[in-house]
Amino acid sequence: MIRYEEEILRLKKEMNAVLLAHYYQESAIQDIADLVGDSLELSRRAAATNADVIVFAGVHFMAETAKILSPQKMVLLPDREAGCSLAEGCPADEFKAFRMRNPDHVAVTYINCSAEVKALSDIICTSGNAEKIIRQIPADKSILFSPDKNLGTYLVKKTGRPMLLWNGSCVVHETFSERKIAALQIEHPGAKLIAHPECEPTLLDHAAFIGSTSALLKYVESSPEKEFIVATESGILHQMEKHCPEKIFIPAPPTANCACNECPYMKKNTLEKVYQCMKDRAPEIVLEEGLRRRAAVSINRMMEMS
Ligand code: 13P
Ligand code: SF4
Repeated sequence: MIRYEEEILRLKKEMNAVLLAHYYQESAIQDIADLVGDSLELSRRAAATNADVIVFAGVHFMAETAKILSPQKMVLLPDREAGCSLAEGCPADEFKAFRMRNPDHVAVTYINCSAEVKALSDIICTSGNAEKIIRQIPADKSILFSPDKNLGTYLVKKTGRPMLLWNGSCVVHETFSERKIAALQIEHPGAKLIAHPECEPTLLDHAAFIGSTSALLKYVESSPEKEFIVATESGILHQMEKHCPEKIFIPAPPTANCACNECPYMKKNTLEKVYQCMKDRAPEIVLEEGLRRRAAVSINRMMEMS
């Protein structure tokens, strides 16, 4: 039987590869990754690495961002089908039409989108830097925010800045049941509700803390509280439990009796597929150079502003 961990470590050395993993990846992948991070940290690392190969255990738009920032490197994605409902809900032609209907607006776009949409945007942001970026846009400029209406609504409230929002959402973060969370809070009166800003506004209104995956992790580490209800993809609980073994983390329950608080795209990657993609050097992310350069402009603006 193949010991995937050992083989992956061997291939990593042989190929001079770096393995980057998002917090929503299965625990076994997180445990052998060189860096586990949120979208912002992973893109910074992808830009800075001197490895020859980036194995990106995350979803397609993340691996594509790595390729945009490191065109000379080979970027591998363990499962080509690992997409994102936000990226899929914002096709480039419709986004282009949205921009054309609002030609005087600055387009700030969440990193959860395709390279084509990045190339049509002015500035990219992640949940970790969106507020900082929006606050830097001159007050006389109107803003289009795409593709997550929940993150957009949260940012409008936080910054007091009106924005025209694209009507998109994440299939995972819209699944949480407020009724079940309220019941959990009665059962666990000391537990703090913490949430990712992709959750619906009515849920966010009840949260003690809102932040990106990394910000949620830092919050539970530094908080004196001992118990948390976590409203984001359940993969993040692995690092929370590792960093704070004495604390209790309860995944926020979805409305249906299913595992809908697991991202079906993120969970397409498995340890076996990480090994296989390294062995086969495929699936590889390939981008047309003109498109890559255009997409790099809005990502580099984000890097300068964050
Ligand atoms: P983070 O940038 O907070 O890691 O979020 C990425 C994501 O896809 C959330 O669903
Ligand atoms: Fe996309 Fe939602 Fe999955 Fe994040 S959790 S990758 S936003 S579908």
